[in-house]
Amino acid sequence: MQIDFSGKVALVTGAAQGIGFAAARAFAEAGASVMLADRSPAVAASAEKIAALGVEACAFELDVADSDQCESMVAKALKQFGRLDFAFNNAGIGSHYRPISDVPDADWRQMLDINLSGVFYCVKHQIPAMLRTGGGVIVNNSSVLGTRALPDTSVEYTAAKHGVIGLTRQVAVNHGAEGIRCLAICPGLIDTQLVDPDSTGGIAAGGIPPTTREWFLQRTPLARIGQPEDIGRSVVLMCSEQASFINGSHLLVDGGLVQG
Ligand SMILES: NC(=O)c1ccc[n+]([C@@H]2O[C@H](COP(=O)([O-])OP(=O)(O)OC[C@H]3O[C@@H](n4cnc5c(N)ncnc54)[C@H](O)[C@@H]3O)[C@@H](O)[C@H]2O)c1
Repeated sequence: MQIDFSGKVALVTGAAQGIGFAAARAFAEAGASVMLADRSPAVAASAEKIAALGVEACAFELDVADSDQCESMVAKALKQFGRLDFAFNNAGIGSHYRPISDVPDADWRQMLDINLSGVFYCVKHQIPAMLRTGGGVIVNNSSVLGTRALPDTSVEYTAAKHGVIGLTRQVAVNHGAEGIRCLAICPGLIDTQLVDPDSTGGIAAGGIPPTTREWFLQRTPLARIGQPEDIGRSVVLMCSEQASFINGSHLLVDGGLVQG
């Protein structure tokens, strides 16, 4: 049951840090060549760390909210590696709870632009690239908040993440017969800067208060906060032949949180 991605190429967005970086490492550990894409210039150093594992790796700087930049990213992956087999569309921002009447329209638009349209632009350009070599697997990062609402949570984040699951289902139906599998992953609370209450700024600012963290912990049957590697390994599994009949589904990776 060993997963061997030698000769395969994976593209990960939001790969400078957090879940995206862990997924890039998991792809590399399975032997894939990896393109790490991110809006942060730190992505170059992250790609170097992946290359140090002994696979081909390169960095690409972009804003996923820009369709042209997503197209250039995919073109660069094809130029660099000659094919595209797997994509993990993971780049995203967080937000914090406010009553809907207090959510500025600009914050709503920014959330939708990055967390939903960003996935649309990536998938749109990845599919033709994958079809050149007979298909591939796309995993979009949603959230437990793509499947349900939770108390004290941002309405714009939950709306965008529900949209990711809808997009994923329709792409799976539209392109399955062409050899494309399209899946969503739904992490529970994962220890990254996105949810770090001490995070001081940057586009992922917001974090979650310690009380919310405690709320998640108490309701997670496995009694721990998830680690980025929990998601990275699951993404690799979803892309592998072990998951070859899974299409259009969303996989909850949340320690059992939403079952309770
Ligand atoms: N951490 C959690 O608890 C959790 C839970 C469910 C879902 N998620 C999702 O996981 C994904 C990754 O988040 P994380 O927790 O690793 O956070 P993170 O803040 O550590 O990493 C997010 C990465 O995305 C990049 N990014 C943000 N906006 C971008 C843009 N417009 N273009 C390109 N890159 C951009 C950032 O620079 C950063 O490197 C997000 O989509 C998030 O919504 C996280």
